[in-house]
Amino acid sequence: MKHLIDLTFKDEHPSQVLDSVLYTLNAPSKLIRYQLVHTLCDDLGVCETHANLFGLALECVHAYSLIHDDLPCMDDDTMRRDQPTNHLIYGEATALLAGDALLTKAFDLIANSGYNDHVKIELIKLLASKSGVSGMILGQQLDMEFESKEISIEDYVKMSALKTGQLFAAALMGAAIIAHDESRLSNYQALGENLGVGFQIQDDCLEVLSDANSIGKSLSDANNNKKTCVNLIGIDASRAYLNDLYEDIEQQFTHLGLKGLKTYELVESLKNRQK
Ligand code: IPE
Ligand code: IPE
Ligand code: MG
Ligand code: MG
Repeated sequence: MKHLIDLTFKDEHPSQVLDSVLYTLNAPSKLIRYQLVHTLCDDLGVCETHANLFGLALECVHAYSLIHDDLPCMDDDTMRRDQPTNHLIYGEATALLAGDALLTKAFDLIANSGYNDHVKIELIKLLASKSGVSGMILGQQLDMEFESKEISIEDYVKMSALKTGQLFAAALMGAAIIAHDESRLSNYQALGENLGVGFQIQDDCLEVLSDANSIGKSLSDANNNKKTCVNLIGIDASRAYLNDLYEDIEQQFTHLGLKGLKTYELVESLKNRQK
């Protein structure tokens, strides 16, 4: 992935904002969304190199969402990916622009890729809708609005399926589009949303059970009055919810004929993640 990032940005004009983009993109991260595109392409019989560009495009959108999420006007965080947050190094205005540049780069990557025209258009539509005003952005908006509201666990699940689930769904649906497996997109959508909700519940649990150095990012949920699974239903019920969710996820894999394959293994490896 480092090689791919170098190649992608090597002809861009040197600048502070380019440094700011690369600061977050090259920082240590789990690359889950990239890996999901890779493993599902592989499971669906597509040469994995076809996954590279869409996987990177998705990681660009994800990195942009993190830079903006950490800004003082949002979660106001100081640590991300084991290093100071982007705005602490480059300033708020440059961090804002770096996020904008990453979002734009994602579409540039797809438009200039070697995918055929049908695949390109479908991937662009997919990424626009999943990251857009009724997708990830809506989840981020609800996350802010919920700070000052009483909400139910159903509201929390809806918010998580949007803010985290939509990019997971985009990873799986994008791989399916690349593999010309478009008849089951709604199944991949549902699986991606469940994976995102599970991932967010784990994140909320880690925030109370772990420390900033272990997870590589600051812990600000309590200070920001965030609605988390843990403060809504408690840690034990959160774990139980997660177990039930993983049972559903397992059934979804079985239904898709992907149980035991690489994507399933990746998801299994996330079950007890500590970071
Ligand atoms: C963090 O995502 C934001 C959430 C959606 C919880 P990741 O935990 O995938 O972050 P990186 O990419 O590994 O830094
Ligand atoms: C981040 O959610 C989700 C997006 C950036 C879309 P959080 O605010 O809950 O995640 P962390 O704890 O900052 O990684
Ligand atoms: Mg947030
Ligand atoms: Mg945050």
